[in-house]
Amino acid sequence: EQPPLVFDASVLRHQTHLPKQFIWPDEEKPCLSAPELVVPLVDLGGFLSGDPVAAMEASRLVGEACRKHGFFLVVNHGIDPKLISDAHSYMDEFFELPLSQKQRAQRKTGQHCGYASSFTGRFSSKLPWKETLSFQFSAKENSPKIVKDYLCNKMGHEFEQFGQVNQEYCEAMSTLSLGIMELLGMSLGVGRAFFKEFFEENSSIMRLNYYPPCQKPDLTLGTGPHCDPTSLTILHQDKVGGLQVYVDNEWHSISPNFNAFVVNIGDTFMALSNGRYKSCLHRAVVNSKTRRKSLAFFLCPRSDKVVSPPSELVDDFSPRVYPDFTWPIFLEFTQKHYRADMKTLEAFS
Ligand code: SIN
Ligand code: FE2
Repeated sequence: EQPPLVFDASVLRHQTHLPKQFIWPDEEKPCLSAPELVVPLVDLGGFLSGDPVAAMEASRLVGEACRKHGFFLVVNHGIDPKLISDAHSYMDEFFELPLSQKQRAQRKTGQHCGYASSFTGRFSSKLPWKETLSFQFSAKENSPKIVKDYLCNKMGHEFEQFGQVNQEYCEAMSTLSLGIMELLGMSLGVGRAFFKEFFEENSSIMRLNYYPPCQKPDLTLGTGPHCDPTSLTILHQDKVGGLQVYVDNEWHSISPNFNAFVVNIGDTFMALSNGRYKSCLHRAVVNSKTRRKSLAFFLCPRSDKVVSPPSELVDDFSPRVYPDFTWPIFLEFTQKHYRADMKTLEAFS
């Protein structure tokens, strides 16, 4: 048996020869200067303070974007900017640790929590140029603070503050995602409270993405093309940029905006909307100058809820597009059969 691969990311970031596992096939190599995607900038200020006219306008913009490609930006989202910048700073501290320390929180196959790196231990080709740290978040009231405690348990008390910041960040994202669900309900004409039962007291996933610099960014990808299997993703990208979305047969970039979150529809919400709202292929490119970070919060439906669209969205002209499913079954499917370039929900149904 061959020993597992171990590349030292702190050395690789200076190398102009990439190991072959990181070199993507020609047809998948990125275009680093993709044209900008036009996405609405949705101002949540009025909506969050209870102004019905502002809520209507926000839901109109959200609906328009979701029918086209499922991507939009939100500003005046009410999240403390200090919480966001703290989350970014702690992330730098963690990912700059020596590999052996990060590996104390190593994510095990089939688990959702922990550290993972494509620079270690995998043999497959088309490896993404990144490291990640993931947490499972429970939105149940009075549930144990599992995000906060995760790193402490794995790596010791020095990580308590890092855990605390991520716990608070997840709580803020969870609240924001329920607000966005209200806008989605309004925009689909099923009422702002409609989707609440699918998501309250649920369990979601938070993932910190760390992309080291790469001297040959035109040969590799930070994250390969994929659709998010979850319901809604709320992403904060740092000031570097690298997120790209495939719309109208072309890759487009979404420029960084530190005051905004990028929100996108995942497969599970596409199913809840009976295919009206799009879950779109996206990827992340890397660059030679600096490391890039993004924080992704993935809103997942409650595991006991059958994902099935409301009857208002099904009729003779719009028959059911996807079968009923529950989140755990679908997640298991995506883990077994997931291919980076495959639309997961379409393959599942
Ligand atoms: C992802 O979609 O998984 C990552 C996106 C990003 O880092 O911008
Ligand atoms: Fe994604």
